[in-house]
Amino acid sequence: MDSGAVTVARTGTARGELVLRESGGHYEVISNGVFLMDTRAGESERLLVRAALQAVPPGARLLIGGLGVGFSLAEAVSSTRAAEIVVVEIEPALVGWHRDHLAPFSAGALGDPRVRVVTADIAAWLRDTDERFDAICLDVDNGPDWTVFDANAELYAGDGLALLRSRLAPGGVLAVWSASASPAYAQRLAAAVGPVRTLAVEVARGEPDVVYLARHEVENPV
Ligand SMILES: C[S@@+](CC[C@H](N)C(=O)[O-])C[C@H]1O[C@@H](n2cnc3c(N)ncnc32)[C@H](O)[C@@H]1O
Repeated sequence: MDSGAVTVARTGTARGELVLRESGGHYEVISNGVFLMDTRAGESERLLVRAALQAVPPGARLLIGGLGVGFSLAEAVSSTRAAEIVVVEIEPALVGWHRDHLAPFSAGALGDPRVRVVTADIAAWLRDTDERFDAICLDVDNGPDWTVFDANAELYAGDGLALLRSRLAPGGVLAVWSASASPAYAQRLAAAVGPVRTLAVEVARGEPDVVYLARHEVENPV
């Protein structure tokens, strides 16, 4: 966290306090006391979406879990490969900040006609929907081993992985962002979804960011 940053917005939520801080024209989001995202970099958040879209045919239905400062969504709308984009974000206040403070970073993406923003917990939303996606990009935490809320841990194991797989179209791809490598998670992902590709992105602060890409392979009909 930037110690020189000033708080420009804060709101209480059922999950703890959500805070937006600014320093030198850049913003950081702190949720429940956990640093989640800032506007300074974004390379791996863009790669999350770019790599997923490259792995599926054009005209894809894309689901993004976690709006954050909007880098992943901006990448999605900059591509012609996504025909429909659903973004599920748990914090309504954060979605609102994209009308002012964070607008330069999402760069109009929320107004793109292909985009539907849903304000919900992604696990609950996935359980309730029967929609299927060619690509699901999950970036709601600092990674499988560092979740912002305890409840999010279910997304990275057992039933949560099965739920995510069940919302993939045949041949679809699940892409998951992590602030550090998690070999145990990569194994669970491969077992639950399918073959995993691991992409690492060097970052200034130390350990590389990681994007895991798992393809839900369709079994050959006999
Ligand atoms: C690390 S940020 C996402 C960064 C984003 N990829 C970007 O480009 O800025 C995580 C986001 O997920 C949201 N989030 C956390 N838990 C969630 C959940 N269970 N369901 C939906 N959104 C969630 C947070 O409020 C936050 O906006």
